[in-house]
Amino acid sequence: MCGIVGYIGKKCDLKKDLINDLKTLEYRGYDSSGIAIYDGNMKIVKTKGKIENLEASLKNVDIANSQLGIAHTRWATHGEANDINSHPHRVGCVTLVHNGIIENYVELKEKLIKKGYHFVSDTDTEVITALLDDIKKSEEDNVKAINKMTLELEGSYALGIIFDDDYDHLYAIRKDSPLIVGICNGCNLIASDVTAIIEHTKKYMLINDYEIVKLSKDKVEIFDRNLKNVKKDILEVSWDINQAKKNGFSHFMLKEIHDEPTVLKDTISEYIKDVNTLINKMPDLSKYNKIHIVACGSAMHAGLVGKSVIEEYANIPVTVELASEYRYKKNFYDKKTLVIFISQSGETADTIAALRNVKKDKIDTLAIVNVVGSTIAREADRVLYIRAGVEIAVATTKAYMLQVAMLILIALNIAYVNKSMNEEEVSKVLKEFKKIPKFVNEIILREKECFEIAKEISSQEDVFFLGRGVDYALSMEGSLKLKEISYIHSEAYPAGELKHGTISLIEDGTVVIGIMSKDKLAPKLLSNVKETLARGAKILIIMTEDLDMDFDFDCHKFVINKVNDILQPILIVVPLQLIAFEVARQRGCDIDKPRNLAKSVTVE
Ligand code: G6P
Repeated sequence: MCGIVGYIGKKCDLKKDLINDLKTLEYRGYDSSGIAIYDGNMKIVKTKGKIENLEASLKNVDIANSQLGIAHTRWATHGEANDINSHPHRVGCVTLVHNGIIENYVELKEKLIKKGYHFVSDTDTEVITALLDDIKKSEEDNVKAINKMTLELEGSYALGIIFDDDYDHLYAIRKDSPLIVGICNGCNLIASDVTAIIEHTKKYMLINDYEIVKLSKDKVEIFDRNLKNVKKDILEVSWDINQAKKNGFSHFMLKEIHDEPTVLKDTISEYIKDVNTLINKMPDLSKYNKIHIVACGSAMHAGLVGKSVIEEYANIPVTVELASEYRYKKNFYDKKTLVIFISQSGETADTIAALRNVKKDKIDTLAIVNVVGSTIAREADRVLYIRAGVEIAVATTKAYMLQVAMLILIALNIAYVNKSMNEEEVSKVLKEFKKIPKFVNEIILREKECFEIAKEISSQEDVFFLGRGVDYALSMEGSLKLKEISYIHSEAYPAGELKHGTISLIEDGTVVIGIMSKDKLAPKLLSNVKETLARGAKILIIMTEDLDMDFDFDCHKFVINKVNDILQPILIVVPLQLIAFEVARQRGCDIDKPRNLAKSVTVE
């Protein structure tokens, strides 16, 4: 989704710095970009497509030494991706960049047209810019003007604003869209997230809804809705700049898959020393007899794995719902229900909205989040951080794996406290858990095998993933990973359901990937796979080593170590991620930044 960054202060080459910072925001997903720098005159350059296009256009623009600028990556919502719709927008005395969606922009636009404003773009952002310019006609004070503007806006926004009457300050505000302030020596910044400031400083402040930011080169002022000064804690980014670099890997996605053994080990070590450690470190969840898991995308798929293990091992019914649906439907919960929200970024708009609804109903919430201090982490009653480190590739890998690992720990914790598993059983799993990072590493080293399998897939138009039980949940993630980065159409099916429609799509040469990790379900899965074979399908199998199956046909098999059933999903994920990566690489796709996708979906 859109990314914003803004500077005020001493910079030798503001143009270069803003471009570099925009590049660090590329991972959020975008289709155009733009920059506004004040060097005595306001210079605005905006281009469709990659930041390289913006860089090229900027070469022809003379920019003198400057201390003030804002920049933006746009993920089109209102109006196609083109130069005019790109940000910054400028109307009258206001220049601004925006992340979010203004829901009442049509009414506002009509009112402003009646007042004589003329619009050149299709965006809601140009409407905000005109609105603020209009307010400025009767309100000299810029902080007050911004505050008045918020009374008229419906929707979500993080704004970086420059006023023509005050080039000594950079202004910003947020509502339901992420915004931070970076604090440096001799300059201050605003940004959508910390990756954009980390080259300059590790010190930052989190901005809350409706807080107005006024930055000069050496002063940070923040005001609440009553225009009272707000005192903020200065936080420190805990990760290193190197984590946001490829470090020799061809792609961030590959690097992040290779990070998995380390981050998995680091995160689970805190909980798995022994049963007592697990119980003491995990929140007390003993009072709940029902769990809802709410999330989007891969986080929802992790939730499906969570449902499978929590129901099976902890004996508690779990429903998993997409946040975009959950937020608008009737939900059946009570004081004994725990609602778990899963989010890598902690900023997904639908997940935040669903969380706020649940909190309004005073139902207990728990967040499983990666980004420390993000909105979901701050607003949920309790939070478990997965600590995957910064994840840059749009398609999540290590964060998904750690979400699954965290849900397994939750299942074990509840299973022990509600006596579905005894101490000996839990201890046994914890002991084996310690070996899992090493097994993950061993699978990652089998890249060559994945390359061979990928060759079978890369020229396909459709791929079907089949699984049963938890393997179906994993199939869904395997299928999503493949389609989002390789653009091959792919679907995941519960194997038994195939006959009720989808089998009509199987024809000579269609690739079917079967996942089998459970001895009880494996023969059933194999029969379903054979049904597709009989219709000409090309079969690939991902299976555990223990399964004694009679394969009377030729197929690629990727065989992985058998571990305790509850831990098995963590290992199955790895070949799914690697195969998707290899297919996309063989097809020459832009793996880390797939078309149309955004890492952090901050609009509804
Ligand atoms: C986007 C990302 C996915 C992610 C989903 C939910 O679609 O591309 O990788 O799973 O958002 O994001 P969250 O940050 O809430 O986990």
